[in-house]
Amino acid sequence: MERLIVKGGSSLKGRTRISGAKNAALPMLAATLLTGGEFTFTNVPMLHDVTTLVMLLKDLGVDADLSPGSSSCVLRIDSSSLSKYEASYELVRQMRASILVLGPLMAREGQARVSLPGGCAIGARPIDFHLKGLELMGAKLKLEEGYVEAKAARLNGAHIYFDVPSVTGTENLMMAAVTARGKTTLENAAREPEVTALGNMLRKMGAKIKGLGTETISIEGVRYLNPTECDIIPDRIEAGTFMMAVAAAGGKVLIEDVIPGHLDAVISKLRVAGLHLDVDNDRILVKKRGKLKSIDIKTLPYPGFPTDLQAQMMAIMCLASGLSVITETIFENRFMHVAELRRLGAEIKVEGRSAIIRGVKGLKGAQVMATDLRASACLVLAGLAAKGPTIISGLQHLDRGYEAMDKKLAALGANISRVNE
Ligand code: UD1
Repeated sequence: MERLIVKGGSSLKGRTRISGAKNAALPMLAATLLTGGEFTFTNVPMLHDVTTLVMLLKDLGVDADLSPGSSSCVLRIDSSSLSKYEASYELVRQMRASILVLGPLMAREGQARVSLPGGCAIGARPIDFHLKGLELMGAKLKLEEGYVEAKAARLNGAHIYFDVPSVTGTENLMMAAVTARGKTTLENAAREPEVTALGNMLRKMGAKIKGLGTETISIEGVRYLNPTECDIIPDRIEAGTFMMAVAAAGGKVLIEDVIPGHLDAVISKLRVAGLHLDVDNDRILVKKRGKLKSIDIKTLPYPGFPTDLQAQMMAIMCLASGLSVITETIFENRFMHVAELRRLGAEIKVEGRSAIIRGVKGLKGAQVMATDLRASACLVLAGLAAKGPTIISGLQHLDRGYEAMDKKLAALGANISRVNE
């Protein structure tokens, strides 16, 4: 079993480059199913979730070739040979985002059979919005043997309202709508930059989409789409995590290849906490001077504070002066890291959807278990701030969504190593 050993006490120094965004890459790769032809993606992060989706695409008959570039990967996909419309339990079980093949398969094939993703460590995470949206577009749905089976000769445009903005829900229905007959309006749609990145790719393919980045997205169905070339946008969650790593370990780091505009809420909150941030076009210089101040955080859909940075923020608030309250409004069970942080000496009380954190003088290393992707990053950050070794297991979560996080931190001077025992 692989584990990370993090020894706190070394401050971070130097520069680090942010990888392509996992949550942009996944829907964009799924969008290759919409039409046959050769697609090229650059700045593709080498992550377990990306290889899982590539495996799923290959299982559907698509050709894919992932080759490492100088600092990122180039992925070529030829979707001409699509021969199946079923996403198996085996693959969907490994990654919930596999549900993203449902919309494009319906658009191209008029049928899809996709295993229902189960619950996950951070909550029940239903997909009812995806399914209701497809039904409104005229698809007939059946749930059988744990699979959703959808059929429609051709989808029709529809007016679809999301009770709460859903990222993959918006993406799936946007992909379903691009070749539907007539106009689709998505109300209370997700405004995340990754949704906009997918929309921009679909537009390059010939789709007619308006309102990207707003809560009303309208799509006029077209008959044909073309394959295209795309560069994956930088991962704002990785960038936020590295900013918080400096907050945890201390030091001065230049974060490169980032879109600061995607991180407005995070930058603003970190500044209030006392972290020094110099923001340039595509770089952020992060400096930590002195102890951080406690702050309150509430996770919200974009442009609010992202739930995917909640756990990491909690790690640094454990050492801030005073009381912080972190309220999680997106997922009902996203405090699994609290028990692990307590093992390092953190003082945290959970009341409903809020965690109340009393800053302590110091954390002390211990053995901990990563329970989900962002919880694993939270534990790495806590380890950077703790005295003595923190031994983290459950690394499969970290590797799902962070490209070489341990190597990038080690290059900045962190005392971190991966051992296989
Ligand atoms: C995406 C991101 C994930 C991030 C999350 C919230 C990807 C691959 N994953 O997940 O990293 O944490 O957005 O920013 O992009 N909901 C329903 N019914 C549905 C769909 C969602 O009730 O059919 C609820 C969810 O339970 C949750 C909220 O809507 O409370 C938002 O979830 P959603 O945006 O759909 O999350 P994902 O797209 O799964």
